Amino acid sequence: MPGFEDLIFRIKSQNPIENIIGEYVELKKTGKNFKGLCPFHDEKTPSFIVSPDKAFYHCFGCKASGDIIKFIEEIEHISFMESLELLAEKSGIDITQYKGHFQKGDSAEIIRANETAALFYNNELKYSKPAYDYLIKRGLEKKHINLFKLGFAKYGNALTKHITSKKLNFSEFEKAGLIMKSGNGYRDRFYNRIMFPISNHSGKTIGFGGRIFEGEGPKYINSSENTVFKKGYYLYGLNMSKKVVRQKSIAVITEGYMDFISLYKAGVDNAVAQLGTACSSMQANLISRMAEKVILMYDADDAGISAALRSIPILLKENIAVDVFIYEKYKDPDEIVEKESNIDLEYIKKHSVDFIEFAKRYESRNMDDEIIRKKHIITFISNAIRLVTNNALKNVYINIASKNLDINKSAFWEENASLKSREKKKKIVIVEKTNILYTELISLMLSNNDLATECCEGIDDAEYYDIKTKNTFIQICNNLENTDKIVDNSSKNVIINNLDEKIIERIFYYENKEPDIKKARKVIELIKRDGIVRKIEENESKKKHIKDDEERKRLDQMNILLRKKLKRGGIEYDR
Ligand code: UTP
Ligand code: MN
Repeated sequence: MPGFEDLIFRIKSQNPIENIIGEYVELKKTGKNFKGLCPFHDEKTPSFIVSPDKAFYHCFGCKASGDIIKFIEEIEHISFMESLELLAEKSGIDITQYKGHFQKGDSAEIIRANETAALFYNNELKYSKPAYDYLIKRGLEKKHINLFKLGFAKYGNALTKHITSKKLNFSEFEKAGLIMKSGNGYRDRFYNRIMFPISNHSGKTIGFGGRIFEGEGPKYINSSENTVFKKGYYLYGLNMSKKVVRQKSIAVITEGYMDFISLYKAGVDNAVAQLGTACSSMQANLISRMAEKVILMYDADDAGISAALRSIPILLKENIAVDVFIYEKYKDPDEIVEKESNIDLEYIKKHSVDFIEFAKRYESRNMDDEIIRKKHIITFISNAIRLVTNNALKNVYINIASKNLDINKSAFWEENASLKSREKKKKIVIVEKTNILYTELISLMLSNNDLATECCEGIDDAEYYDIKTKNTFIQICNNLENTDKIVDNSSKNVIINNLDEKIIERIFYYENKEPDIKKARKVIELIKRDGIVRKIEENESKKKHIKDDEERKRLDQMNILLRKKLKRGGIEYDR
């Protein structure tokens, strides 16, 4: 069987990136590159760039980037393997010879089984009057039941029987986690449950949540996880609300299926449900591509408050502004819709506070001592704000925090800093500077063969300290040695998809410039210098644990030499 790299190479060489992306985005040529409106976020002026030379795309607005395989993954919301399959099909590459690699490419089967089951369960609801009446009692109408494709799984292995009578493929339903082997045959996973089909972002059913209908047992169970259905990767309802979420740039996040459905019914059409205890970082990232702000509308109980406190930093890390809905008398969004008329986004906004006010009210809410509690609140808020990397948003929050907590801005940040020891603080500064250096180095290397050669010869990998980019550095050096090229085609894919967005931005920056050998040399010097500084620090901290005088002396001697070397270099450590 031919290697996997071979397939990737063929797909890439037969599908010029500008053609593939051109099917989704209107591209205009600008110099060597193409430019267009980014399909991954809303924008009016184009910041989405496609480079045929480097065979990848990058958006300077939302930072989406990658090669064609990644592009198809993102735009079609499919997996890496499915993307390969789709691209192979487009270019007429026969993948049967690579089939061994596609063993996991069973998503089409899983989706087919789920879609069949959704129809089946929905139809069953018509004949299960108590279940149907239950939904009506909860305020739904027939049209909602159909819109959300709600269903019912009754007792007695109904789905298994349906598969048998229709002569469908058992293994597909088993892979989808809807039936399980039992004795010589199969049995249903879901019974006596109201069924909520869960859609992916293009509306295909990828799994189910089943709510118990009368009797004992866990309140909800989900389809078991498989290649298509992964908890924490999806948001329930997003396929229906994503357009409005994009338009308004605000998403309301609820906990449960019924919360989403009730809000939708009431006309709040920019909500989603996270179906877990707190927002996952995948979900936060997903939202960050469509909205600039979320309103957390979890349940009013203690668990809901804790979940909100856990979700806040996860969302801020993606530069999403966070407000939290504050309850007065109801327990969840479902109940609000039931008891109040005229629930709309304005109502939700009116009853929400920014995350700072929320933390002030609820962080360490059971702590008796007021001073300790205040300390915890300030720590929570300053730690949270520190995660925001968008400067404008960060400033907004620093201002709100200093006003709300009645401490002046600099005091707020001194408080912030004093949480860490001085030594730790110093280390962080060095590491931050260093990251810029290593980012610069890799970008320079990827921009030009000669520069790359100079860098590889200039730095030993033993002197290379940055863990994040170290492998890329070594790979480039190996490629140069073996093939005389910066990156060979098989590793290019791996390298580019793993690169930090900062590096990709810098590659574009260097792309249209003359190779800057002088700059490369300076970066090499600085990296060597960084290596020496780290070595000195390493020796100093070793000394603290060593009792043997001889050994301590040796470390001192070594540091004297290293310090001299630093001085001779005579280069300012200025970045
Ligand atoms: P809730 O218990 O609040 O359920 O759990 P709900 O959606 O409000 O349902 P109703 O209104 O009582 O009928 C919130 C969400 O947490 C997940 C489900 O996604 C649920 O919608 N959950 C809850 C589970 O996955 N398993 C459970 O046992 C309970
Ligand atoms: Mn609930």
